[in-house]
Amino acid sequence: MTKKILIVAGDGIGPEVMGEAERVLGWYKQKRGFDVTVEHELVGGCCYDKHGVAVTDATIEKAKAADAVFLGAVGGPKWDNVPYEGRPEAGLLRLRKDLELFANLRPALCFAALADASSLKREIVEGLDIMIVRELTGGVYFGEPKEITDLGNGERRGVDTQVYTTHEIRRIAEVAFDLARKRGNRVMSVEKRNVMKTGVLWYEEVAKLHAEKFADVKLDNMLADNCAMQLVRNPKQFDVIVTDNLFGDVLSDIASMLTGSLGMLPSASLGAKDANGKANAMYEPVHGSAPDIAGTGAANPIASILSLAMALRYTFDRGACADLLEKAVDAVLANGLRTGDIMQPGMTKVGTVAMGDAILKELDRLNA
Ligand code: NAD
Ligand code: IPM
Ligand code: MN
Repeated sequence: MTKKILIVAGDGIGPEVMGEAERVLGWYKQKRGFDVTVEHELVGGCCYDKHGVAVTDATIEKAKAADAVFLGAVGGPKWDNVPYEGRPEAGLLRLRKDLELFANLRPALCFAALADASSLKREIVEGLDIMIVRELTGGVYFGEPKEITDLGNGERRGVDTQVYTTHEIRRIAEVAFDLARKRGNRVMSVEKRNVMKTGVLWYEEVAKLHAEKFADVKLDNMLADNCAMQLVRNPKQFDVIVTDNLFGDVLSDIASMLTGSLGMLPSASLGAKDANGKANAMYEPVHGSAPDIAGTGAANPIASILSLAMALRYTFDRGACADLLEKAVDAVLANGLRTGDIMQPGMTKVGTVAMGDAILKELDRLNA
């Protein structure tokens, strides 16, 4: 049956990197019989400019009806002063919340050719393959109250609220344990139970679920600050990391530098399966709209292209197509092609479109 993809390229480098992912998608339609229709919508600052909101109700409905949403990036200095509710990031957050995309998979994989592109030593990152499982629809991102109040004495007070329930913790931990079974069979649960009540609950609920259903998986616990340090000290000690919304955001940006660049990290945001086995899904690079390089044609499209590989694997059940795409990326990097963010001495510097061209060529070669 024909599948439906909704593309929301967004702002800044979003449309530039999404353009390349779309060309790769076109290749799969043409060369691998991937039967899919594509629609485009606005989310982010571009949507605010047109509609006065960062995402419209109609787009939310289209996103729910699609098999997968592909998002580029949202945000930028142009919208620094729009009302908080209308800011570009609010569109992305609403998509995640309304589609109940509670499980955010952020794999950090160091491609062989990039072992020297990291700011860390080769031996620390070479062969790295970790999976960060970030809770995406709860925690301090969405807890109420969330407000700034005037205390009337020249003072103001800002409040964000970290909230988690048993159900929210169990379902994300379940995803992490399931993934671990297909990988190294180890889960590191990360919180700050030494300071936060939600951390205590997180620790206890993960331990309970582990004892009930996943005793065969090795479970360890780590405080989030230590985890940040350990990711830089010895990242290969980790297999699957499961953590809350905010810690997951920060730890995944740290992990990105182990792979060479934030421009390399893809992600999948998944909801629960319904009775027909369909789950809402959104695929997006971990990086943002990169205002400092937007419009220059220099952005690395690989995070977006690898997000398409994740879609092929997790939504479309096309594991072989995903493997092929990852192989093509690997080969292009091995051939010495580099966008600016992963540039190394002696390599060939290319822009966004030339990187896309090279990956398409490599797909043709591998598919021949
Ligand atoms: P950013 O991720 O946009 O950029 C951080 C740095 O990484 C910049 O120097 C940028 O040039 C570089 N970079 C990022 N992606 C790159 C790529 N593909 N190729 C080469 N270099 C790349 O983070 P920021 O500057 O803190 O945020 C800018 C805007 O993006 C903000 O409005 C923020 O809210 C938004 N943002 C959106 C998303 C998203 O849409 N999912 C994610 C993160 C940040
Ligand atoms: C990300 C981004 C978002 C987040 C922002 C843009 C809302 O940083 O996807 O990592 O904080 O989740
Ligand atoms: Mn982030």
